[in-house]
Amino acid sequence: LRTDLLSAIADADTLDAVETVRVAALGKAGTITALLKTLGGMTPDERQATGPRIHGLREAVTAALGERKAGLERAALDARLASETLDMTLPVDLAATGGVHPVSQVMDELAEIFVDLGFAVATGPEIEDDWHNFTALNIPETHPARAMHDTFYVERTGARTDGAAQAASDGGGFATDASERMVLRTHTSPVQIRAMKAAGGNQPVRIIAPGRTYRSDSDATHTPMFHQVEGLVIDKGITLGHLKWTLETFLKAFFERDDIVLRLRPSYFPFTEPSAEVDVGFSVVNGKRVIGGSEGWMEVLGSGMVHRSVIAAGGYDPDEWQGFAFGCGIDRLAMLKYGMDDLRAFFDGDLRWLKHYGFAA
Ligand code: PHE
Repeated sequence: LRTDLLSAIADADTLDAVETVRVAALGKAGTITALLKTLGGMTPDERQATGPRIHGLREAVTAALGERKAGLERAALDARLASETLDMTLPVDLAATGGVHPVSQVMDELAEIFVDLGFAVATGPEIEDDWHNFTALNIPETHPARAMHDTFYVERTGARTDGAAQAASDGGGFATDASERMVLRTHTSPVQIRAMKAAGGNQPVRIIAPGRTYRSDSDATHTPMFHQVEGLVIDKGITLGHLKWTLETFLKAFFERDDIVLRLRPSYFPFTEPSAEVDVGFSVVNGKRVIGGSEGWMEVLGSGMVHRSVIAAGGYDPDEWQGFAFGCGIDRLAMLKYGMDDLRAFFDGDLRWLKHYGFAA
């Protein structure tokens, strides 16, 4: 019986076959179980003679079953590992990973440059009230600069609890009272006021404010929605020299060139006095204008010393505090840095365009 069982175990080539042998030997009706039962009917002498042999048999068979089972399980695992091997050298299709849009990319670059210079990044609402967008920036109701801004006005709907409902209902939903009028901000300059107010009138302000701006205008270089970055420094003893150094340092870092030349051209903005339009020197490479050198001049931003009235509107005493401000088109910066020539393409969401300029995989 021992030889038969051991060879049956050796022949069992599946876990099921091993189990069948186990049941046949050690199960309720198994051969070894039957032998063990006979011990009960034996005399003590017989039991002493036969008992150890039967127990020995049971132990040998149990051990053989266990070993066979472990061996088969190991073989099964090996087979599975072998069949599931991955070939890491096979080429794969990379999933589309998306990319950072050039506008976001430039915003990130600006934040990085200005944070290094000690500026914080500030934000303001895109739906802005008339006061922040115009009045506080020294552009009163009758000022001609308002007409130059091609402003989008926002219709007020819904009930207000502050008594403005009546004003809002005049003029078909558009507030006729300037103090109630809402606009899509026409520039990032209202953030100047918000940043000064937030700082409380008694400490320096150094911020940039990148974001979306809106004007009713559309051609190859204008889109109704575009992006600007505002810069504002308020402190004591601030001069035009600080403005020029800051702009020069920023543009050198942004265009990654040392041969950046600036020209400050006297200009006019209601919220700065004096005001300067800043031109940057360009050179022509393969028929394209590249920033750097001085073969010609290109206007890149507006700037100036913050007007006394604006400093006052921001809650600062203009006899004590001075500052400079600048505003710059982000889309234009991106076009100049990455060589794009149609602004409208920025907002078409066309992957082929993004790929062409290396902004999508
Ligand atoms: N807000 C101006 C514009 O949109 C730019 C500007 C900002 C000019 C700050 C001077 C100072 O054109």
